[in-house]
Amino acid sequence: MRQITEPAAMQTEAAAILRAGKKHGFVPTMGNLHAGHRTLIDQARADGEIVTVSIFVNPTQFNDGADFENYPRTLAADLQLCATAGVDYVFTPTAAEIYAPDRDILVIPDKLANPLCGLSRGRGHFIGVCTVVAKLFNLVRPDRVYFGQKDAQQALIIQRMISDLNFPVKMSLLPTVREADGLALSSRNRLLTKKERQIAPQLYAALQTGAQMLAAGESRPHAVIEKMMSRLSAPEIEIDYLNIVDLATLTDLEEITGDALIAAAIKLGDVRLIDNVIAGRANSALKRGAIE
Ligand code: PAF
Repeated sequence: MRQITEPAAMQTEAAAILRAGKKHGFVPTMGNLHAGHRTLIDQARADGEIVTVSIFVNPTQFNDGADFENYPRTLAADLQLCATAGVDYVFTPTAAEIYAPDRDILVIPDKLANPLCGLSRGRGHFIGVCTVVAKLFNLVRPDRVYFGQKDAQQALIIQRMISDLNFPVKMSLLPTVREADGLALSSRNRLLTKKERQIAPQLYAALQTGAQMLAAGESRPHAVIEKMMSRLSAPEIEIDYLNIVDLATLTDLEEITGDALIAAAIKLGDVRLIDNVIAGRANSALKRGAIE
């Protein structure tokens, strides 16, 4: 495994991989790698010949300076996980190497970035995500990129960026990896207090309640949302959003007639957790676990 910090060196290496005609899988991350990331790496390993993981806590996608400062940084353990998982390249640039002081161009997503996390974290969040992922695509030049369903909105936006801006990259979207009690794995989980960690699985339990109601034929979003909110009644929980949205457009459904994405974000103390499930009966692309 080789660790590369300089963007130009990554690009040179990527060009050689491309020239050699090798399949190159890419797992972009902000580090603090856990079993969810490991699943993405394992899939990339199984699919291709070369696997690159990037570790970069991207400052431009944080709307809250404290959130950026507190984001867990565990490079030594991350490198260990990557080595064990058989990763070929770990790209670990600094912010100064990624962002020129006089930079002037951003990648701005439109409608898909308006609801859910776009609304609660502000316009800048997905602009930061799209801009850095576009840059990473140009530096790593993968033919396939791997994302997890926990960040479903992010994955849909990146998928749209790939098609709208003609990046020669395919995306694989893998199911959310969970703790035994249902809590979605997230780098932020380690910031929870013991009490908050005990309460956190209520988020997935509420999503499951919603999914069961949809499976049973409930078509009224407000009825589902009300029931789910009653499952999130612990005083420590602050509900950020809880929406039942169209799988393709992420707009709120007025009536549930087919598949839907039930997406939620809560705050427990200072920690913001997101999760989602796809509910309904039809066989959507997200449900199959792959967007091509
Ligand atoms: O999901 C993440 O970890 C980040 O948003 C990403 C895609 C690495 C961009 O910084």
